[in-house]
Amino acid sequence: MSQTFEIDGQAIPFEPGQTIIDASLTAGLYIPHLCHHPEFTPHGSCRLCIVEAGGRMVSACTQPAAEGLKVLSNTEAINAERRTLVQMLFVEGNHTCPGCEKSGACQLQAVAYYLQMLGPRFPHFYPLREVDASHPEIALDLNRCILCELCVRASRDVDGKDLFAIAGRGTGAHLVINSPDGTLGSSNFSIEDRAAEICPVGVFLRKDGSYQVPIGERLYDRQPIDVVGDVHPVEGEDDNG
Ligand code: SF4
Ligand code: FES
Repeated sequence: MSQTFEIDGQAIPFEPGQTIIDASLTAGLYIPHLCHHPEFTPHGSCRLCIVEAGGRMVSACTQPAAEGLKVLSNTEAINAERRTLVQMLFVEGNHTCPGCEKSGACQLQAVAYYLQMLGPRFPHFYPLREVDASHPEIALDLNRCILCELCVRASRDVDGKDLFAIAGRGTGAHLVINSPDGTLGSSNFSIEDRAAEICPVGVFLRKDGSYQVPIGERLYDRQPIDVVGDVHPVEGEDDNG
């Protein structure tokens, strides 16, 4: 018999060892997240998945579910914290949604809508970030990187290439490429790599077939991000590829 815990009063079944967020998503209940993907080891960096569990604030992507645990997630206070985190992400990078190829298929944009973020709130950093267009099939626009390390994990754990890493600290943290001259073009990166389609924002941009799905008809244009099951767009269907 599976065990259960509660999120916002709803009983959620779980298997031993499952995290709060994975059990919740499996049960069809959305908890906001950006650095988490059920196929990869938890990273615990974006803090968007914060919940109150047993009276403590924890990350739902790293906290194991436990029998009888009472979790609060979709409360005004917790969503206000999440909204602040998203507002910080928007000013730390250069996110120009109206002109972004990923608009409508971007999880940062979609979670901002979900949290009813109306504006940036903090002064923009306008950091200088690079665009690497050296690869024949994919351009990297690092203006949008939120340092979630999903591409790092995908390249290392699935593709077996270990092509990406985060270098620097604080506001200087940035994505680097493990290649002879630091560009994607001189690496053995392939458009078939898992890392090519895991980015939750618009860093990895296909050079062919952009806008195949017009803005206005993409996944999060059609439904909000809390419709669980379509949290992670499928390449070629709903993203900008
Ligand atoms: Fe995450 Fe995308 Fe940045 Fe990689 S490029 S760390 S997937 S936001
Ligand atoms: Fe849990 Fe990012 S989704 S910290």
